Amino acid sequence: MLKKALAGIGAGALLLGAAACGSGDDSSGDDSGSGDGLVVGFAQVGAESAWRTANSDSVQASAEADDRIADLQFVDAQQDQEKQIEAVRNFITQRVDVIVLAPVVETGWTDILGEAEQAGIPVILADRGIEQADEDLYVTRLGSDFVEEGRKAGQWTVETFADDDSTRILELEGTVGSAPANDRKTGFYEILDSEGLSYDLVDSQSGDFTAEGGKSVMETFISTHGLDDIDLLYAHNDEMGLGAIQAIEEAGKVPGEDIQIIIVDGSKAGFEAAVDGKVNYIVECNPVFGDQLMDLVVDVAGGEEFDKFIAVEEGVYGEADFEAELPNRQF
Ligand code: AHR
Repeated sequence: MLKKALAGIGAGALLLGAAACGSGDDSSGDDSGSGDGLVVGFAQVGAESAWRTANSDSVQASAEADDRIADLQFVDAQQDQEKQIEAVRNFITQRVDVIVLAPVVETGWTDILGEAEQAGIPVILADRGIEQADEDLYVTRLGSDFVEEGRKAGQWTVETFADDDSTRILELEGTVGSAPANDRKTGFYEILDSEGLSYDLVDSQSGDFTAEGGKSVMETFISTHGLDDIDLLYAHNDEMGLGAIQAIEEAGKVPGEDIQIIIVDGSKAGFEAAVDGKVNYIVECNPVFGDQLMDLVVDVAGGEEFDKFIAVEEGVYGEADFEAELPNRQF
């Protein structure tokens, strides 16, 4: 198979391979059975969380197992937009068939996606989205409804603290300017406000979706505000929540009891903390969409059109679900 043949050869040869099976030359748009397959460039955000690693593994494994895909060129951009832009530019130079981009932040994509459009290479967004003004520059986005995730966290908060005079909240936000950070915030406060919960957002800062970031910001929260009057920590992902739990324990408090905690993702480590009583609610964000993405890549290369957003399925988990759900977690 071409995929196997390409695995051990250099960039120059790869360039030839990519050009030879470029979608511009394939008027049928159907690579199945053609014997060569598609070359796909994937500019991934980084490796900042268990979620991200699971997502990279899922996409790479699905591409490897899929005979319609000749090669997946994978770039880990280390949470750096410049590196992602450079990766996309390289994909364009190599004339890959389809570009998959998981944009680290929402803005700043107009020029590079314009270049992809000029080159006639379709772009699929995976996971995160970009600003609406650039909507014409990609075919579709496959990923989570982050606003809905925020709403789910908000709904549990409203139900849990309905009888309180005023709920005092700390928030650990994801990477500044990223779609999940922006949208999880929007959805959360939309529900708190529309349901009329009386609350006080005591502090809200970014922990950059990492455990170290979550721990260090939580330490700052604790030294600035203490923990005695705080009811809830809303962490935009598992890693930051787990880092914060460490900081709370080091401050001599009991996570899950002295302060209730919501996390988003649903990794094994997140569920283990929940089974131990340290997390009170989990909003799932599903990274395992490699197979769906490969189907989409093939259809997009064949010229099919799609709605601008294709949502992956995800649930929510409360205290009653943690133990039963833990063995099912895939990452
Ligand atoms: O974009 C998805 C988010 O990115 C996940 O919630 C988080 O863990 C990751 O870093």
